[in-house]
This record gives sequence, C-alpha cells and structure tokens, in this order.
Amino acid sequence: MASFEGIKRVGVIGAGTMGRGIVMNFVNAGYPVTWLDVNAEMLEKGLVDIASVYKRSVAQERFDDAEAQARVARISTTQNYADLAEMDLVVEAVYENMDLKKKIFAELDKAVQASAILATNTSYLDIDEIASATQRPTQVLGLHFFSPAHIMKLLEVVRGKATAQDVMDACLAVGTKIGKEAVLAGNCHGFIGNRMLEKYSRQSREVVLEGSTPWEVDQALQGFGMAMGPYRMYDVVGIDLGWRSRELAGLGRGEPIVWLDNKLCEMERFGQKSGHGFYKYEQGSRQAIQDPETDMMAREVAEEAGYTARDVPAEEIVTRCILALVNEGARILDEGYAESAEDIDRVYRFGYGFPAERGGPMAYADSLGLDKVLAEIRTLEAERGEFWKPAAGLVKLAEAGGRFTKA
Ligand SMILES: NC(=O)c1ccc[n+]([C@@H]2O[C@H](COP(=O)([O-])OP(=O)(O)OC[C@H]3O[C@@H](n4cnc5c(N)ncnc54)[C@H](O)[C@@H]3O)[C@@H](O)[C@H]2O)c1
Repeated sequence: MASFEGIKRVGVIGAGTMGRGIVMNFVNAGYPVTWLDVNAEMLEKGLVDIASVYKRSVAQERFDDAEAQARVARISTTQNYADLAEMDLVVEAVYENMDLKKKIFAELDKAVQASAILATNTSYLDIDEIASATQRPTQVLGLHFFSPAHIMKLLEVVRGKATAQDVMDACLAVGTKIGKEAVLAGNCHGFIGNRMLEKYSRQSREVVLEGSTPWEVDQALQGFGMAMGPYRMYDVVGIDLGWRSRELAGLGRGEPIVWLDNKLCEMERFGQKSGHGFYKYEQGSRQAIQDPETDMMAREVAEEAGYTARDVPAEEIVTRCILALVNEGARILDEGYAESAEDIDRVYRFGYGFPAERGGPMAYADSLGLDKVLAEIRTLEAERGEFWKPAAGLVKLAEAGGRFTKA
C-alpha cells in the first residue's frame, strides 16, 4: 500500500527544462534524487544549471553555501535504469511523445521495485495509455508540474482510471511537502489548466485576426490583472512548440489562428529564447518590446483569411478571453474532471498568473453574477456560434440563482 511516509527516494527521468526544475523541488525538500537521461551531456548541463540557480539563491541570502552544496550532493545521475531499482517514486519528464513514454514506462516497470509509484509530467497525453505499458496501472498517475518547475506553485495530480486512492493520497501529500499547491485533476486532454488555456488562447488569437494587436491583447489582460498577457506567455513558452507538433502531425498550415505563429517560426522567431517572437528582446533581457512588424504581419495574415480589421475594445478582449475560461471550467466540472470550482481557481491562480484578488475564473464569474455571465455567453453564442455554447452546469446554476464557489 502506497503512503506518503513510504516515499523516501525519488527518481527523475529527463534532464531538460522540466526535469531540472522537478529535481530541484525534491532535493529542496530533502529527498535524495537519482536522475536519469539517455544523454549524459544533458545531465551534466542540468547539474551546472541547478548549481547556478543555487548560487543565485546564496547570493540573495536565501540559504548558505553549505546548504547549496548539500542540495547538489543529494543528486546522483545515471544512464542506467538498474540504478532506479530502489526508488519509491519516479517522475518521467522526457519529450512529449506517447511511444517514447510507453517505452520508458515499460522499462521502468521492469527495473523499479514493485511498490514504486510511476508518474508522468505529460502536458496532454493520456495517462491510461501510458499506464497500459506497465503491469502496475494502479500505481501510475500524472504529476504535472509547471514551468519553471522549481518556481511555479501549481502541481496537477492527475488520476488515471486505474490509479489507486492511496497512490493519489500519497502524491497529493508529497506535492504539499515539496511546497506545491497540489490539485487533483482528471485525465482529460490538457487536464484542468491546459484544457481551459486552449479556449483562452483561441480567443486571444481570434481578436488579433479581427483587428487587435498582440500588444493590445496583453495590455487588456494585464489590465484585468493577469500576471502576463497571453502573447508574452507564448514568447516565454516558445512559439515553435505548437508549430513543430503541427508539422509532426502533418497538419500543414492549420487554422488561420495559427498562421501568424507559422510565419514567425518560419523566420526563426520562436520567442524569448531566440530574442524575437511576437515581441523583440534585447540581448540578455526578458523585457518585451512591441514590434510593429509583428502587427503588420498579423494584419496580412488576417486579410488573407478574409477578415476586415475593426477596433476591438479592451473590454471585449477581456470578456471573451476570461469567459472562455469560465465556460470551459464549468464544462470540466460538469464532466467531473475537477473536484470543485475552488480547485479550478487554484489551478489558475498558482499556474497561470490569474489575479489572486479576483479569486480565480470561477470566483470571478460568481462575482459578476452567473445570470449576467450566462447572458453574455448566450449573446456571444448568437453572434459567433458553437464555441460559445454555454456549459450545462452554468445554465443550471444561473437559472437557479446559484454560484460555482462557496460564498
Ligand atoms: N516545457 C514546459 O513548459 C512544460 C511544462 C509542463 C509539462 N511539460 C512536459 O514535460 C515533459 C518534458 O518537457 P521538457 O520541456 O522538459 O523537454 P526537454 O526537451 O527540455 O527535455 C527532454 C529530456 O528528455 C531526455 N530524453 C529523451 N529521450 C529519453 C529517453 N529515452 N530516456 C531518458 N531521457 C530521455 C532528453 O535528453 C532531454 O534531456 C514533456 O512531456 C512536456 O510536455 C513541459
């Protein structure tokens, strides 16, 4: 039987962006970590990266040099699965590819003691399919960290159809121990956070096709209180991720909402990492500088797709982006992929920079009044169609004078 106390040694697979942050989470909380990657160079780079993060913390007097060294000393690296045999929990963070993850889980299943819990950091892939590669699907789940993983507070603990309750409980407790806001999520595409984000992103892109600029969209949403507007966020995450996965899936140019992304990527403007994306960045700076060329390209793409530019007021940008979150959040509740509206709000506050003073998308909808939210969504549906079909639960609550969150 899995338990929080039973988790003493942790394995991490993958030494890329996420693996590095995940390793830090565990060693910071005192867990010894065995870190595996096929590529020894990635492990070396990962260790250097971690040491430099700790060096900065020492310079900021968050802890002393002895503590920094003790943390690094808790990490051992390997390319050999046999070294994971005695782990109690293994978190996988390799490329987002189902075949690769299944191969790794099959290998892990053979190499690691029978009592161990096996977790994946996948952003979108089906936990059940990954679990099916093992003989222990009851001990498989998602532990979805957010980037940068050593800083972002959110952890989605994703339940597969076979995941045992004691495994969920142990991982929720470990999540809290490593300083995360651990939120239970169901196994749907994108879980809670990214599933909702897809709807928000679509609106942020549609308003640009209709006549806004990325800068205006960001200003509007930052004015609402979002820590970072969506276009700044796309630049941080990397515009190329979606572009490459569309290429891999053979989707060609895709829908008009991604044509601007395609154009930027063809110019190798991938976002912050290449110094240029929707915004420009000066060498070594993360300060987003508005780029008139991006706005021009956005208009060209929109005209090609048949749009005539209009002024989109900031208020409309906020309404469409935020109500898209609310409606999808309501649908997630309807389908049982989140346990409560409060959990959805925690996901958005701790993982997506939703303004704390507004509580989260669901509490914000409550503050507006669900009757007003429903009326607004119905107007959008009449004007814009299927995307805005109101979630059944929203209709029910609004008609009953109810609310999503507890008063
Ligand atoms: N980057 C993000 O913002 C983010 C956020 C949340 C979740 N995720 C998810 O985390 C996972 C990792 O993403 P990332 O951005 O850290 O990737 P990355 O490309 O930075 O790193 C992947 C690492 O996996 C290693 N690897 C590849 N094949 C391997 C194998 N067979 N065995 C062991 N190691 C292998 C690579 O050498 C590399 O070090 C993905 O599933 C991704 O969807 C990413």
